[in-house]
Amino acid sequence: MNANQALWEKGDFTRIAASMRDSGEALVRDVGITEGMKVLDLGSGDGTTAIPAAQLGADVLGVDIASNLVEAGNRRAQELGLDNIRFQQGDATDLSELDDGSFDLVVSIFGAMFAPNPFDVAKEMVRVTKPGGRIVMGNWIPNDPTLVAQILKISASYSPAAPEGFVSPMTWGVEDNVVERFTAAGVPAENIGFQRDTYWFNFAGEPAELVESFRTYYGPTMNAFEAAAANDREDDLRAELEALFTEQNTADAGTSIPATFLRVTVSR
Ligand SMILES: C[S@@+](CC[C@H](N)C(=O)[O-])C[C@H]1O[C@@H](n2cnc3c(N)ncnc32)[C@H](O)[C@@H]1O
Repeated sequence: MNANQALWEKGDFTRIAASMRDSGEALVRDVGITEGMKVLDLGSGDGTTAIPAAQLGADVLGVDIASNLVEAGNRRAQELGLDNIRFQQGDATDLSELDDGSFDLVVSIFGAMFAPNPFDVAKEMVRVTKPGGRIVMGNWIPNDPTLVAQILKISASYSPAAPEGFVSPMTWGVEDNVVERFTAAGVPAENIGFQRDTYWFNFAGEPAELVESFRTYYGPTMNAFEAAAANDREDDLRAELEALFTEQNTADAGTSIPATFLRVTVSR
C-alpha cells in the first residue's frame, strides 16, 4: 500500500479533527463561500472544512487518500442531511479523475501539504481550478514555536532519519517554496498571497489526555511512539509532549491551544 495512505489510515484522525472543528468553521466563514460555488477540499479528512463549506451552500467534493476518513466524511454528511457534498478517495499528486477547471475554489487545510511530490500537487491544484478561481492552503510552518511544528520537531527527534530525497511536508510552510511550486505550475508570483493565521485545538480533557489521544489516534505520533519504544524511550517522548501541551494550554479547565499556520491564497 502507498505509505502516505498507510500513515493516515493508521489510528483514527477523526478523533484529533474533533478538537479542530471551531477553527475549521471560522476559516471557511472567512474564505468567501457563496451558494452553488464548486469547492474541492483536498486532503479533506472527515470534513472539518468541507462540511461547513457545504453548510454555507457550496457544492463540495472532499478528496482524501485515507479510505477510513472518506467513509467518516460521507457518514457525517449523511447524519447532517447534506446532499451537496460527497467524499471520495484520491491522491493529491494525481487527480486525473477530475477535469481541468472544475472548481471555483480548491481548499487544502493541512491536507495536500502531506502528499509527496509537491510540484505535482501544485500542478494538480492549479489544473482543476477554474481560470479566475482560487486555491486556499493552510500549511504548518517549520520551526514555528507553536503546537504542531513543535509536536513534529519533538517526534522527529525520536524517529529514524528520513530517507534520502524525502521532501518534508513542512516545506509547504516556507513562502519561497510555495512560490517556486506554484510558479512552476504556471501561476504568476504576484497572484500568490500569504498571511499568518491561527488554528485552535479545543479539547474537553486536560493537556495530558490530548497527548494520549494523539498517541492513540494520530498516525505520525503513533509512529513516533513506536520508534521511541524501539529505543525504550516512550516515557521520555510522552513527558516532552505533555510538557509542551501543558505549557501552551491557555484554558483554566480543559485544553485550548493555538497553533500558527501559513495561509496561502493563489488566484488562478
Ligand atoms: C492533518 S490531516 C487534515 C485533514 C483535514 N483537512 C482537516 O483539516 O481536518 C491530513 C489529511 O491529508 C490527507 N492526505 C495525506 N496525503 C494525501 C494525499 N497524497 N492525497 C490526498 N489526501 C492526503 C490525509 O489522509 C489526512 O486526511
